[in-house]
Amino acid sequence: MSKTLILVAHPQLEASRANRALLAAVWWKPGIEIVDLHAGSPEGRIDVEEQVRLLLAADRIVLQFPMQWYSTPPLLKEWQDQVLTRMMYLAYEQEGRLLKGKPILAAVTAGARETDYGPEGRNRFTMAELLTPLQATALRCGLDWQEPFVVYDAREASDEDLKMAGERYAARLSGLSLAAAA
Ligand SMILES: Cc1cc2nc3c(=O)[nH]c(=O)nc-3n(C[C@H](O)[C@H](O)[C@H](O)COP(=O)(O)O)c2cc1C
Repeated sequence: MSKTLILVAHPQLEASRANRALLAAVWWKPGIEIVDLHAGSPEGRIDVEEQVRLLLAADRIVLQFPMQWYSTPPLLKEWQDQVLTRMMYLAYEQEGRLLKGKPILAAVTAGARETDYGPEGRNRFTMAELLTPLQATALRCGLDWQEPFVVYDAREASDEDLKMAGERYAARLSGLSLAAAA
């Protein structure tokens, strides 16, 4: 069976509501593998070998994280610096080359509202604009960048809102599998 890797990067997953709600909606689905980057990186030490293995074994990659200061949490940036640098620059033939064409989806939760993200809003930039460094990185790695999945207003969301967000997420991941299979 083809595999969707969800790499979750949340500095405090045990205290999360939104990211946990997303995971609760999909963890049981066949072909989904969830990996908690923080739990697997004691004292911030990323197991690069294991991360490379996970990426190579996946047919689709989801990077799931809460937006922090308009960017990824720091450990996910460190993951890019260590894992992608190795794959793309140090071991391109054996590793980086094999990423080509794999769909990658950023699944992002944000505390601010959707209307805050745009030229008229208080954050001035759209979510797509803020995610362009990650998109550029994915494209540089030959990955097939997908339109990001975003949950806005994640702190104020009710349990019911988050349940619905989880359903949207599950549907989006099913669509991602079909897109990749086509
Ligand atoms: C250090 C820090 C920085 C944050 N920066 C942003 C931000 O730039 N934009 C935003 O919309 N929310 C920001 N937030 C809010 C988080 O994105 C929000 O609390 C999270 O997505 C909720 O998901 P959770 O329940 O899984 O923790 C920030 C939160 C923290 C702790």
